[in-house]
Amino acid sequence: MIQRRLLTTICRMTEEAKRLAGCAAVDNHVKNNQVLGIGSGSTIVHAVNRLGTFYARQLILQNGLNLSDLERHPELDVAIDGADEVDSNLNLIKGGGGCLAQEKIVAGCAKSFIVIADYRKDSKNFGDQWKKGIPIEVLPMAYVPIIKSIQKQFGGVAELRMAVSKAGPVVTDNGNFLLDWKFDRVHDWNTINTAIKMIPGVVDTGLFINMAERVYFGMEDGSVSIRDKPVH
Ligand code: A5P
Repeated sequence: MIQRRLLTTICRMTEEAKRLAGCAAVDNHVKNNQVLGIGSGSTIVHAVNRLGTFYARQLILQNGLNLSDLERHPELDVAIDGADEVDSNLNLIKGGGGCLAQEKIVAGCAKSFIVIADYRKDSKNFGDQWKKGIPIEVLPMAYVPIIKSIQKQFGGVAELRMAVSKAGPVVTDNGNFLLDWKFDRVHDWNTINTAIKMIPGVVDTGLFINMAERVYFGMEDGSVSIRDKPVH
């Protein structure tokens, strides 16, 4: 009973931290008449709520916002998205929720890529907090050779992500499979990202290197901590 109460309190705290980060990002970065990119996940819901709507396509339309695409708006003013983990260089792991390639394209089209997260996502090195590995989107026919190639070249264990409420693997928005690569040491993530992307059949990785301009972390104590990309 006490344990359940503790769990409920922690969940409430985390949700509030996500809300604080989402609101701060919208308040500080969104202006009228901008073209926005919005990612997916549980944190981004709070940012979209702050925008006065919800992110489902139908609801965006119902609320009178203009839903667009990259053919009509290839240049975005701001993209806002969540992350699974943020390292000390503001590199990100994303794709825990199953979306990464589309999110990376959207982030890459934005003048400003802003990340919102709760305090649990803040790490010095990848893997300190996020234990599920690096998501990698792959063409279905190539998933076995890709697993073998990753494990041989970089060590660790790569696994096909299986669906929870249906039989078989998770299928992405693009009709692809997802691997989760549990790495066994700290790597040069920029080099690793490029090397994995060179393996035939890899669509993209959940490593967002040098893309985020600023991260808003909602903290346990109700404050918001802001971290900007370090200047090297
Ligand atoms: C979607 O797959 C992801 O890239 C999410 O942005 C990321 O997993 C963060 O999701 P939460 O806000 O739900 O933690």
